[in-house]
Amino acid sequence: MPSVNSPIGVFDSGIGGLSVLRAIRVLMSEEAILYFGDQGHVPYGPRSMGQIQNFSEGITNFLLDHDSKLIVVACNTASAAALSYLRRRFPFVAFVGMEPAVKPAAETTKTGKVGVLATPATFQGALYASVVERFAAGVELFQHTCPGLVSQIEKGELASAATRSILEDALHPMLEKNIDTVVLGCTHYPFVIPLIEQIVGERVRVIDPAPAVAKQAKRLLEAAGMKDQTRGRAPIRFFTSGSPSEMKSLLPVFLGESGEIEPVAWKSDSVIE
Ligand code: DGL
Repeated sequence: MPSVNSPIGVFDSGIGGLSVLRAIRVLMSEEAILYFGDQGHVPYGPRSMGQIQNFSEGITNFLLDHDSKLIVVACNTASAAALSYLRRRFPFVAFVGMEPAVKPAAETTKTGKVGVLATPATFQGALYASVVERFAAGVELFQHTCPGLVSQIEKGELASAATRSILEDALHPMLEKNIDTVVLGCTHYPFVIPLIEQIVGERVRVIDPAPAVAKQAKRLLEAAGMKDQTRGRAPIRFFTSGSPSEMKSLLPVFLGESGEIEPVAWKSDSVIE
């Protein structure tokens, strides 16, 4: 059974979830963390809902086997495809998931026009449809899936010409429609905020939901009496189903700290060795 000192389990299809981990670290550096990047299967965006559910279930089992007290699904795509499935499969586990931040965007837009960048699976899921229905009344949304962007970011190409061109293709048509807000509906995208800001200019607000997700994780831990009060800066363990050396080389850039990466192998779509 997990205790107050148990780690928070965080997962993503790859290194995108590090944008959420970074925010959790800022808010609760005393919490130990397990980070799982499913780089053997990245990107999730073009995959089927069923496959993403299987991967998410396998990773959740892995994180629970390692004593996680809370699971943060630091991936909009996995949240869209699998969050309600995971909550049904693991009724006694606390999950924090992600949804595109349409609500704060709709509350603050002046032009009534908002751009949303996310993966195909995120836009197809019922979660996005319900967010739009609940929060976007009277607001016009312009969506784009930014094909290839997740792979560019996984390669560490945060400012290359190819990455810029993907973002320009997504954002220029939105700018022509007079958007004043861009919602980052994929946890990989905050790593290219400098490039996005160069393209959209300073009059367009860019919303990264990671700080709000970290706050929600803190609230849940406090409510359950599971917030670790005892330590200084706690350790992070990193796991990847892809190449440990690649993840290791990207950590300082993406997280501002380095770490050892532990390799894991999938036995089947839902079982990790
Ligand atoms: N980081 C992801 C998200 O938040 C997934 C990207 C992908 O694997 O396609 O949606």
